[in-house]
Formats: sequence, structure tokens, C-alpha cells
Amino acid sequence: MKLLVLGSTGFLGSYLGFALPRAGHEVLGVSRRDVGYFPNNTVITDLGAVEGIIRRGECDTVINCVAVASHEDCEKDPETAGAINSVFPGVWASAATEIGARFVHISTDAVFDGTSSGLYGENDETHPESVYGSTKARGEQAVFGANPHALVLRVNFFGWSRSHKSGILDFFVNAFTNQLPITGFQDYVVSSLYMGHLVDVMVELVEKKQSGLFHAVSSTPLSKYDFGQMVARCAGLSADSMAEGLLVEATGLAPRGHDLSLSTAKIESTLGHSMPSTEAGVVRALAEREALMDYFGPHER
Ligand SMILES: NC(=O)c1ccc[n+]([C@@H]2O[C@H](COP(=O)([O-])OP(=O)(O)OC[C@H]3O[C@@H](n4cnc5c(N)ncnc54)[C@H](OP(=O)(O)O)[C@@H]3O)[C@@H](O)[C@H]2O)c1
Repeated sequence: MKLLVLGSTGFLGSYLGFALPRAGHEVLGVSRRDVGYFPNNTVITDLGAVEGIIRRGECDTVINCVAVASHEDCEKDPETAGAINSVFPGVWASAATEIGARFVHISTDAVFDGTSSGLYGENDETHPESVYGSTKARGEQAVFGANPHALVLRVNFFGWSRSHKSGILDFFVNAFTNQLPITGFQDYVVSSLYMGHLVDVMVELVEKKQSGLFHAVSSTPLSKYDFGQMVARCAGLSADSMAEGLLVEATGLAPRGHDLSLSTAKIESTLGHSMPSTEAGVVRALAEREALMDYFGPHER
């Protein structure tokens, strides 16, 4: 396949430039900042230019990883979050249809409020707690409104960041390596999937010509505290510097649902296999770390 990644500098977007070529695919990127590592990357100064890049028709699949993905940034500037998370995805989904390309849009578990007593399924009504969640929910609608054959994946993922500073995996590994005091929330539960596994299932769904909404997450919801304990165990580190804590008592964070466990029943029955566990993802992440850092290059660490 020849895939165009929108948001090639982001946490997930940058990883796609590593993983897709390794899986035998050709990749192109679009970003507002220049990056040396991403193959065939185009730098733009305005998101208005993305539509024209899609219309060049140089790819068979477009993956949209552009977002205002921080809850806090969305609360601070809801207008920008609305444009980027809700409006542009529809414009890009429409441009992809017109050139006959598949459109993959990345959404989030934060479209739910986390108050359900069970796993959220794709047919459950969304009820976002935050500006981030509501702008992402509107983005899903915009994508399907423009392109009923789009593939929309609600995700929650972890992986290594090129700065070594963003993301929950770096957070725990840095804290345990340096024995920094941290708090692990016991009341914040998500179905986090390793990025490598996310890319695998994304490619599988596209190759199977699937469309519609899927929960592309791990089969094993875990609290952040339990995730931290598991990272320490898999990495051979001590988790002694982590205290038990509660998200409900944390200050300075934008509102978010507490139990965002998602059902993987639909994606598993479509793919014909189970979704990987979070622990399998941590093991794979540890094994892949050096290769990923080589891809980013020494100046990006
Ligand atoms: N991280 C998670 O665990 C998680 C969980 C659930 C869902 N998601 C979803 O997964 C997708 C990818 O998330 P991520 O964590 O990779 O996000 P990220 O690291 O924040 O990346 C977002 C991308 O969007 C670009 N972008 C943002 N505002 C822009 C603007 N005004 N103009 C041009 N480009 C702009 C960023 O460019 P710069 O690099 O230049 O800022 C970056 O390339 C998003 O749809 C997010 O909602 C993520």
C-alpha cells in the first residue's frame, strides 16, 4: 500500500513512519514542522494545504493523525480544537473519497464519560466529559458524513516518544529508572494498546477493506497504577517510587472519564483473532525501543 500520514510529527504519526515501511508499505507524510526521519515528508504552513496534497492522488490510503490531542489544550482553546478535531477531518475524508483513497481517522475513548459499569461498545451512545472528547466525537460524525466508507478507530495507545518525555511508557520508565516519586492512579482505567499492535490491526482492517467504527484497543483494561507495576516488572525495574493515588483527587487536570474500558468484540470478530494484551505490548515495546530510536536519530532523542 501507499499511505499518506497526516500529522507525521505526532506521537502516533511519527511511529507510522517507522512501522509502515518495516511492514512493506510505502509512506508519505505531512507536517507543519520539518522532520528528518519521516520518509517523503511534505512541510506545510497551513492545514488548509492538506486537502490539495490529498487531491494530488499519490496514495491509496490516508491516515489522519492530526489532532489537538491534549485535554488541557482543548479546554484552553476550544475553537482551535473544534477546527482541527471536528472540521478538518471531514474535509480530508471527502478529498480522500474523491481520489478513490481509503480514509482512516483516529478517534478516542474519551468520547465516553467513563461512568458505564461495563465495557463500551461501538453502538453505545457517546457522552464526552471534556472539550477534547466532544470535538473528537463531532470529528467522527464529520468523517462519516463526508465519507461513509471511512474507517474510524477509537484508540488508546502507548509507545516511546522521540523526546523520551511524552507518553505514559516514558513516564513510568523514566520514574522507575531514576527512582523519582510518582503517583499511579488506581481509579483511571483504560484499554491501552501498544502502537505497534495498533498499526498491525490498522493495516489488517484496511487490507480487508473494512469500513465503519472500531474500538482498536487492548483486550485487557488496566488502571494506570497496574500499568506502572507491569512496566516495572517487564523492564526489570523497581516500582517502589510509585505511590497509590486517585485521579479524582488530582488537581490541574481537565475532566476525563475514569473507566474508559472498551469492548474489543467487534474488531476481534472482524479480524478473526483476539486483540493483544497491554502486557504483550509492553514486552514488544521494550524489544523495539532501540530500532525506533535509531529511526528517530540521535538529534531527536
Ligand atoms: N495519545 C493517546 O494515547 C491517544 C489516546 C486516544 C486517542 N488519541 C488520538 O490519536 C491521534 C494521534 O494522537 P497523538 O498522541 O499522536 O497526538 P500528537 O502527538 O499531539 O500529534 C498531533 C499531530 O497533529 C499536529 N497538529 C496539531 N495541531 C496542528 C496545527 N494547528 N497545524 C498543523 N498540525 C497540527 C501535530 O503537529 P506538531 O507536532 O507540529 O504539533 C502532530 O503532528 C489523535 O487523533 C488523538 O486524538 C491519542
